[in-house]
Amino acid sequence: MVSSALPSKRKSQPENRAATARPAQLLAWYDRHRRRLPWRAPAGQRSDPYRVWLSEIMLQQTTVKAVGPYFEKFLARWPDVSALGSAELDDVLRMWAGLGYYSRARNLHACAVTVLREHGGVFPDTEEGLRKLPGIGPYTAAAIAAIAFDRLTMPVDGNIERVVSRLFAVEEALPQAKPQIQALAATLLGPARAGDSAQAMMDLGATICTPKKPACSLCPFNADCAARERGDQDTFPRKAAKKTGTLRRGAAFVVVRGDELLVRSRPAKG
Ligand code: ADE
Repeated sequence: MVSSALPSKRKSQPENRAATARPAQLLAWYDRHRRRLPWRAPAGQRSDPYRVWLSEIMLQQTTVKAVGPYFEKFLARWPDVSALGSAELDDVLRMWAGLGYYSRARNLHACAVTVLREHGGVFPDTEEGLRKLPGIGPYTAAAIAAIAFDRLTMPVDGNIERVVSRLFAVEEALPQAKPQIQALAATLLGPARAGDSAQAMMDLGATICTPKKPACSLCPFNADCAARERGDQDTFPRKAAKKTGTLRRGAAFVVVRGDELLVRSRPAKG
């Protein structure tokens, strides 16, 4: 069980040995089992920041399966950030239709315009620089910095929170546990290949360390997982009890004319 953010120096020798082995175990597993995804560079090759950014924005609140065809369509139409930054917003919104959370499409376009006009068409290569761009929050900045630029940082989303909270049996509940989980996740980074480590954690969360019935026998950390040792891995991450919300009622109307559905674009804000 973990009570402090980082493993203590006084921990027993075997635990220290396990801790230092984890980054290499994770990468060895990734080299054998990595998912082939449309935005991923082949093994050993550097990722194109434009592809990484485009996929990370699409993957916010959307599944890998749903994103695949949209990613291909966007890339065929706008193969680089200059092309997307020169596109009409309405064309981008039309191409985005069906993917949901449309503010992402507006931010995507605004970000491409900013990179083109203010950064000469080159994405900033640090988390800090990326954070200043429209639509890029802490998670997405860390993901792009690690995957596209091999910056030593570990993006932590809900899947990675689950893996880490189990591996270290983090008893503190979310969301309070976020800083502790972030610090523990960073211990899984080795001296290099941060992008592969991040993508390995994404794959582990999606395919092995699933919310229900995790496939622990296939996990590279199975000999060393604190929750598995206790047999209660399904119960992590701990979550603070949800506050009961107030019930709000509303009404929605649709306007039809014959077999046409009449629609109007909303203002960009509000
Ligand atoms: N979820 C968010 N980013 C991802 C990525 N790069 N690969 C797979 N799943 C993801």
